[in-house]
Amino acid sequence: MNEKQATVTLDALASLCKRRGFIFQSSEIYGGINGFWDYGPLGVELKRNIKDAWWKSMVQEREDVVGLDCSIIMHPRVWEASGHVEGFTDPMVDCKKCKGRWRADQLPETKCPQGGPHDYTEPRKFNLMFKTFVGPVEESSSVAYLRPETAQGIFAQFDNVLQVARQKVPFGIAQIGKAFRNEINPRNYTFRSREFEQMELEFFVKPGTDQQWHEYWVAERMKWYQSIGLPASSLHQYVYPKEELAHYASACVDVMFDFPFGTQELEGIAARGNFDLSRHQEFSGKSMEYFDQETNEKFIPHVVEPSAGVDRIALAVLCNAYREEWVPKGDQGGEVRLAELGKPAPEGFEARTVMRFAPCIAPIKVAVFPLLKNKPELVEKARQVFDTLRRRWPAFYDQTGAIGRRYRRQDEVGTPYGVTVDFQSLEDQTVTLRERDSMQQIRLKIEDLPGKLGETLG
Ligand code: GAP
Repeated sequence: MNEKQATVTLDALASLCKRRGFIFQSSEIYGGINGFWDYGPLGVELKRNIKDAWWKSMVQEREDVVGLDCSIIMHPRVWEASGHVEGFTDPMVDCKKCKGRWRADQLPETKCPQGGPHDYTEPRKFNLMFKTFVGPVEESSSVAYLRPETAQGIFAQFDNVLQVARQKVPFGIAQIGKAFRNEINPRNYTFRSREFEQMELEFFVKPGTDQQWHEYWVAERMKWYQSIGLPASSLHQYVYPKEELAHYASACVDVMFDFPFGTQELEGIAARGNFDLSRHQEFSGKSMEYFDQETNEKFIPHVVEPSAGVDRIALAVLCNAYREEWVPKGDQGGEVRLAELGKPAPEGFEARTVMRFAPCIAPIKVAVFPLLKNKPELVEKARQVFDTLRRRWPAFYDQTGAIGRRYRRQDEVGTPYGVTVDFQSLEDQTVTLRERDSMQQIRLKIEDLPGKLGETLG
């Protein structure tokens, strides 16, 4: 299933994503805006499924984690305390030849990134936070920032949550939400954007237990990625050597994925000591200490932070799912071959593009088709089946076009199952159930359909 199609390009994926309504360029009718993306009808479902899977595993299924939803704009002192005002910068140069602005640490050696000769200015520090003003007057005292990470909201509310959540250290606070970074070079489709969503957990632990909790969370997170269908063979860990760690951190591991443009980060899992809470205590004057009733000790908890990007995970899931295949003509299953890109399908085969999403994150779980749209009895029965199924799963009804084309459309959006109502259905109350990956069809009773689908769709 996860045999690699090394030549799949981001262009082919982006084209499918636009054609089928996963991802659009933001403000496309005005020429787009670099680093911003919109999710279409299927993309929004895909992202929601990823976020729900994360929330279920990180909050709902645990007794030691609670949720939070903070504002995007916070008091500007938050970002002074966190170090973002001073230190959240990239070195940047302007090229006087091409008039482009580039990250100084990512420049090719000889040429300008545009391909021609270069004439760079000296590198300057560029703060990645988007600035705005709160209230009607645009002056320095009303400056505020769009949050560059969700984490700081959690630290700033640590004490309030502690008071109400009936939790004892070790425990965690989780948040999903938008973050904004004025990236100098947004690139690789949605991978590095200027507006994106994060899923962050701050897990507060007793000083001295950081390492054991860090190891625990790295293992948990690796399992989670596999639970949403990313194969272990495409996932890697980058373990930071001591000299690359922030001065307050004792460990950091990035979860990496093999994208078509290289192996890149999906998530960082850092043991950050008590840096953030200590800084907020210092800057706000409010105590961030925790009183341990068992040992009668007071301490500022240390934190282990698994911090993931929703859009990057969505992109990884899309890249992993995308396959161009050669399949036997006639839609009855049989040998499925990985297409050799650019070549025609061999005798007896035809090409299909399929998104092999894990059923738990597929935007649509099941599609229902009447064999013919001009036979009211078939349409009526198919609508009945559809109405039953959609109460339980996101379902799609399609009656237009030849049945083979309808299957292909659902393959392209990654729908795991197709149910077809035909003339036999009217006689014996059975339907055919087609599985996306093998394309095999079985016939079963309509009343057995929810049970059968429930085996994989839950
Ligand atoms: N609180 C820690 C933190 O924000 P980070 O490594 O800067 O750490 C965490 O970001 C995750 O957020 C990354 O692993 C990535 O998935 C996502 N992320 C960061 N910058 C991004 C960008 N410009 N576009 C898309 N996702 C981004």
